[in-house]
Amino acid sequence: MKWFLELSLCFFLLLFSPFHSLYAQTPKPPKKSPELLNVGKKLYDQYCATCHGPKGDGKGPVGAALKPPPRDFNIPLSQWTYAKGNLNKVFEVISKGIPNTSMVKWDQLSEQERWGLTYYVAEFATSKTPTKKK
Ligand code: HEC
Repeated sequence: MKWFLELSLCFFLLLFSPFHSLYAQTPKPPKKSPELLNVGKKLYDQYCATCHGPKGDGKGPVGAALKPPPRDFNIPLSQWTYAKGNLNKVFEVISKGIPNTSMVKWDQLSEQERWGLTYYVAEFATSKTPTKKK
């Protein structure tokens, strides 16, 4: 009888364990948080600012010479060529890059870090609407 109990316990653990989410097809994005934005900012200044500019205006020292030019993140998110207002698309561009442009993929960064970047670049767009400054 004992083995039976153990077996059903195993089933229960399998069914309800949080590890289940590890195998989900589309992982849920982490919640936007000040910590995550900070992660994004650090990485952005390190990796992205040369092209996209420290202010996200696409006027980084390298970006100025590029064709097509890097995205100016200060326009409304809905007008971004690839994102079209969709944060998942921003994440996708960062993860996969854009073929035939200097926008390469950044999949060496963890998913968490890429979401940090996603939220951070989207901040450029939303910070244009005059709400309270962070
Ligand atoms: C070597 C220059 C370069 C670097 C470095 C770079 N990008 Fe880009 N990025 C580009 C260019 C060029 C485009 C525009 C391509 C186009 O319009 O077809 C672009 C486009 C994008 C877009 C698409 C926005 C849209 O929907 O139109 C996102 C998001 C983006 N970059 C994020 C990042 C992030 C985050 C980093 C740092 C991890 C980064 N980029 C680093 C050159 C760069």
